Amino acid sequence: DALAALDGVTRFVELGPDGVLSALVQQPDAVTAPLLRRDRDEVTTVLTALATLHVNGVPVDWSPLFTGVRPAELPTYAFQHQRYWLESRPAKAVAADPAEAGFWATIDRGDLTTLATELGVDPLSPLESVLPALTSWRARGRERSRSDGWRYRVGWQPVPEPGTSVLEGTWVLVGADTVGLAAALTDHGARVLTVGADERGALARRLRALDEPIAGVVSLAALEDAPLLDTFAVVQACLDVESTAPLWLITRGAVSVGRADAPAGPVQAQTWGLGRTLALEHPERWGGLLDLPAVVDSRAAGRVAAVLGGALGAEDQVAVRGGGVLVRRLEHAPVGSGSVWKPRGTVLIAGGTGGLGAEVARWAAANGAERLVLLSRRGVRAPGAAELLAELPMAEIHACDLADRSAVEALLATVGKVDTVVHAAGVSEHMALVDADEEHVRRVVDGKVDGALHLDALVGTDLDAFVVFSSISGVWGSGEQAAYGAANAALDA
Ligand SMILES: NC(=O)c1ccc[n+]([C@@H]2O[C@H](COP(=O)([O-])OP(=O)(O)OC[C@H]3O[C@@H](n4cnc5c(N)ncnc54)[C@H](OP(=O)(O)O)[C@@H]3O)[C@@H](O)[C@H]2O)c1
Repeated sequence: DALAALDGVTRFVELGPDGVLSALVQQPDAVTAPLLRRDRDEVTTVLTALATLHVNGVPVDWSPLFTGVRPAELPTYAFQHQRYWLESRPAKAVAADPAEAGFWATIDRGDLTTLATELGVDPLSPLESVLPALTSWRARGRERSRSDGWRYRVGWQPVPEPGTSVLEGTWVLVGADTVGLAAALTDHGARVLTVGADERGALARRLRALDEPIAGVVSLAALEDAPLLDTFAVVQACLDVESTAPLWLITRGAVSVGRADAPAGPVQAQTWGLGRTLALEHPERWGGLLDLPAVVDSRAAGRVAAVLGGALGAEDQVAVRGGGVLVRRLEHAPVGSGSVWKPRGTVLIAGGTGGLGAEVARWAAANGAERLVLLSRRGVRAPGAAELLAELPMAEIHACDLADRSAVEALLATVGKVDTVVHAAGVSEHMALVDADEEHVRRVVDGKVDGALHLDALVGTDLDAFVVFSSISGVWGSGEQAAYGAANAALDA
């Protein structure tokens, strides 16, 4: 009765000894703050009560609690609600109409009686068999619209023809200039010095000896015989030299900008994975990635010079093609509708004893595979291998190093016909770009990239599917994972 009489009061402090009176407060917008609670810590309870009042607009004198402390201004950015990440896409609304939504809710519940009433049919009609099918159809659709929200792919956006920009200062070309870039840069006003590709120490010494301010460095190392290791050497030598000159990495056919363009080359693509990691680890040295067309005529060389001269502003992932210049974008790529693929026959899973490989094995076993051939370097000695064999009677586990072509050949000879290949073998190691030595690069790249090439070459073409597991590090890089990014960019290609 007393509470009812306190019409208009919305803030209640209960002095004790528990929250019994607070519990009687019924107004929906009321704030209650009991200062003592049975079985709760006294200090915590009283401070919680005061804080509750404070955040609900009741002035609280905090000065006795914080003696000698001056309040600080709160940063305001938290309240500006400006987001810096991609908006997640709402799952497609299946039914906006409430009646239709109710219909689908009946299906979701598997509620035969209501559905029969709704449809005006006998519950014992053939609906009995239709309903489970409808229910799982609906579940699949929901699953698909959720995973559709996660799917992205790389796309290429044409940009207006870059104007003729002037290249200021001295530019260093590292590697053999087989594409005539020196002439194009000179035409655009640069003073050009060329330095042959070399191992890291020698290259750093030559760069240091240049004894003049450098406006930019352009690596042509990816066009050499050992593109990845040579590019690592150039990048590391540049990092060893104290300089802020931006470093551009030139490739040729590393990316495919559309159906009319040649497919991306896996070896060239590695430099893009490495480059994205360089951009993350050393933004102060980052210039960009620039992919050349198969034929570099004077027009294409001019476009390259314009891009290096800054004609595209902050764009740092660029493809020059006969038809113009394109920049890289990440695009949403829903699958939409389509039938669900199911494995059959023999499924070979490289890395099949690993985390994702074992999941794929379980999925394949439950979805139609008759025989599972799992391989990894340790084979049955891998952790979890015995349990996997016990769980999946159709599975066999072989020890095989994918980096070793003859070992892969011998294994395939004993296995016989394979219907599907899943390549989920990989080694993920962290190492800063400046420290990445050849052994590290080989450990990370060989099993993954050479392994994919060996499987592709040796398994034959009569396959249902050839699936490779790559990583987003190949698209946007990953700190301390330059080699891993390179390997994954190659698999994407
Ligand atoms: N887990 C993730 O979140 C994630 C994210 C993005 C991409 N990926 C990619 O998905 C794949 C699987 O990842 P995961 O997390 O399942 O890794 P994992 O648990 O480390 O498994 C990797 C498997 O590959 C095998 N392997 C490594 N090198 C091999 C070689 N040269 N020859 C044959 N087998 C080899 C390993 O076994 P042995 O050591 O016995 O050879 C192991 O069975 C990898 O390619 C990874 O890059 C994973």
